[in-house]
Amino acid sequence: MTQLTQEQLKEFDEKGFLFFPSLFKAAEIESLTAQLDDMFAQDTVCNVREKGSTAVRTNFAAHNYNPAFARLARHPRMINPVVELFDEGVYMHQFKVNAKAAFDGQVWQWHQDFGTWHADDQMAEPRAMNVAIFLDDVNEHNGPLMFIPGSHKLGVLDAGHDTETTSYPLWTLDANTISALVRDGGIVSPKGPPGSMILFHSCLVHASGSNLSPWDRKAVYLSLCAVSNHIKRFKRPGYIAHRQFAPIECLPDDCLISDYEVSLPWLDGVPSAELEVV
Ligand code: SIN
Ligand code: MN
Repeated sequence: MTQLTQEQLKEFDEKGFLFFPSLFKAAEIESLTAQLDDMFAQDTVCNVREKGSTAVRTNFAAHNYNPAFARLARHPRMINPVVELFDEGVYMHQFKVNAKAAFDGQVWQWHQDFGTWHADDQMAEPRAMNVAIFLDDVNEHNGPLMFIPGSHKLGVLDAGHDTETTSYPLWTLDANTISALVRDGGIVSPKGPPGSMILFHSCLVHASGSNLSPWDRKAVYLSLCAVSNHIKRFKRPGYIAHRQFAPIECLPDDCLISDYEVSLPWLDGVPSAELEVV
C-alpha cells in the first residue's frame, strides 16, 4: 500500500494538493493514449464536445467500456493514497478524460468540484478526492490547471450555475471571490511530463485557461468518493455521476503494462437506466 509521508500529509493539509512528477512511465501512459483516437471518434453521449466545435472536451466513463482505462481505474498508485487519506474504501464518483485540445480546448471557469457534487448529486461531505494523470506534457502554454493553495480549507463557497460559457454546466465562483482568495493564497500550476499525477482536495478552488498552443493537454481525472459518503440524488446521468458504490479493488502495480481481466459493463453502450435522471 502506498504510504504518504508525514511531510506529504502536512503539505496536503496546508495546500490542498500533492504533485507527483513522472509517477507513471512512458509505456504505461502509451497504453492509455493509444486508445484515445477511437474513443473520441465514437458518437456517444460519453463524448462531450467543445461549444461550437467537434473537438472532444471531456470523454466520460471510459473505465466502463475500455480495458486500458478500466485498469487505470483500479491502479494502486492512484487509489491507495486516497484510501489512506479517508481511512475507508472508495468508489468511482466520476471518471473522465479532459482533452484540452491544441487550439480548441476551452476554459474551465473557477470552481470547487465538491460545490457541484453537493449541489447536483447530494454528496454530503467533501470526503471525495480528485486524482489527475497527465497524458501529455503540461506546460505554461497549454492550459495547465490553476490552483489557489489553501482554498480547500474554506468549505463550500457561494457559486452560480454557469450553463452558458462552455458545453459543460458547472457551479462557478465570481471574480470578487477569486480576487480575494488569490490575494491570500496566490495561484500555482503543477506542470510536468506525461505520467505526472496530482491529488487534489474536492474543495480546492481551481480553473484552467483555454489552450491556444499547438500542444494538446490531455489528462485523466478520477474522482474518488468514500463509500459511506455516496451520492443520494441522480439528477445527472450515470455516465457523469456514477451510481455504483462498491469499493474499488485494486489490481497489481503493473496493471497498465500486463494483461489483467477487467469487467466492461458498458461495452455495448451506456445502459438506458443510466440516462434516467430525477
Ligand atoms: C476540472 O476542473 O474538472 C477540469 C479542469 C481541467 O481539466 O483543466
Ligand atoms: Mn474541477
